[in-house]
Amino acid sequence: MTSNDVSHQPAAHYDRVHEAWRLIMGSEFHYGVFATPETPLGEATAALTALMVDGAQPRAGDRLLDVGCGTGHQSCALVDEYGVRALGITTSEEGVAAATALAAERGLADARFEVRDGTANGLPDASFDVVWVLESSHLMRDRAALLSECARVLAPGGRMVLCDIIRKREIPFREVRDRKVELATLRRAFGDAHMQPLASYTAALEELGLTVTGSRDITEPTLPTFAAWRANCAAHRAELVELIGAEAVDDYVRACDILEGFWRDGTLGYGMLSAAKASAPTPT
Ligand SMILES: C[S@@+](CC[C@H](N)C(=O)[O-])C[C@H]1O[C@@H](n2cnc3c(N)ncnc32)[C@H](O)[C@@H]1O
Repeated sequence: MTSNDVSHQPAAHYDRVHEAWRLIMGSEFHYGVFATPETPLGEATAALTALMVDGAQPRAGDRLLDVGCGTGHQSCALVDEYGVRALGITTSEEGVAAATALAAERGLADARFEVRDGTANGLPDASFDVVWVLESSHLMRDRAALLSECARVLAPGGRMVLCDIIRKREIPFREVRDRKVELATLRRAFGDAHMQPLASYTAALEELGLTVTGSRDITEPTLPTFAAWRANCAAHRAELVELIGAEAVDDYVRACDILEGFWRDGTLGYGMLSAAKASAPTPT
């Protein structure tokens, strides 16, 4: 690792790639759910967000915590469309600045953003009705701490939704060693990611006293995401090279090829789950 390699530090990684990712991924930094391979990327990312909304059931006045809030797009949309009061947290200062600017531009006083770590958020117990974790958990190596923090800040009767890249089979050490060049490319392109099976999230949340109300594998409809990202890399190559350099753009395209292979051979995929915290007993 050189002194300039920040891929192991999520905050530094996100600060560095923020503007470039807008060109590649659009306003939402996550995969899409494609009705057909030709579905436009923006429509597909909105479809994935809509599945999260189905699980979260946001209601006016709900206090919503958006863990790993990216550019603040979803928090702003949830405030705007459902009347929730959102706090978006991320370890990226660039992310907080962009999200705060977006909320100001849209006149959304109920969308606030702060630099906080999802694995030790420092927020009061039982202070949110909805906890929303959209594609950020794979960046938090201490998954147990993330899920425990989510369960802790959820109020009785609250709902949690999470979606992310998942690991779908054991990857033996020999294979990790043999594929170390590919894995290093993924790390440079996407940061220090650690994928876990969907079932491990379910088990951890149930262990924390939540009830998992829904769990689904959406690997197949997310597959066209890679082709869409590659197409944006080609369409915006000159600007991207200016922002992050030719090597990083080439890494990103290679990383899409590698992930697409993992999606197709059943190594990795995409999952989503929803969970609920029991309501407080009504006083007799
Ligand atoms: C793939 S982006 C997803 C962003 C957003 N949820 C979206 O879908 O547009 C991952 C986000 O997780 C944030 N992140 C990474 N590690 C984090 C941590 N330990 N605590 C909070 N946020 C973190 C990154 O800064 C980034 O905003």
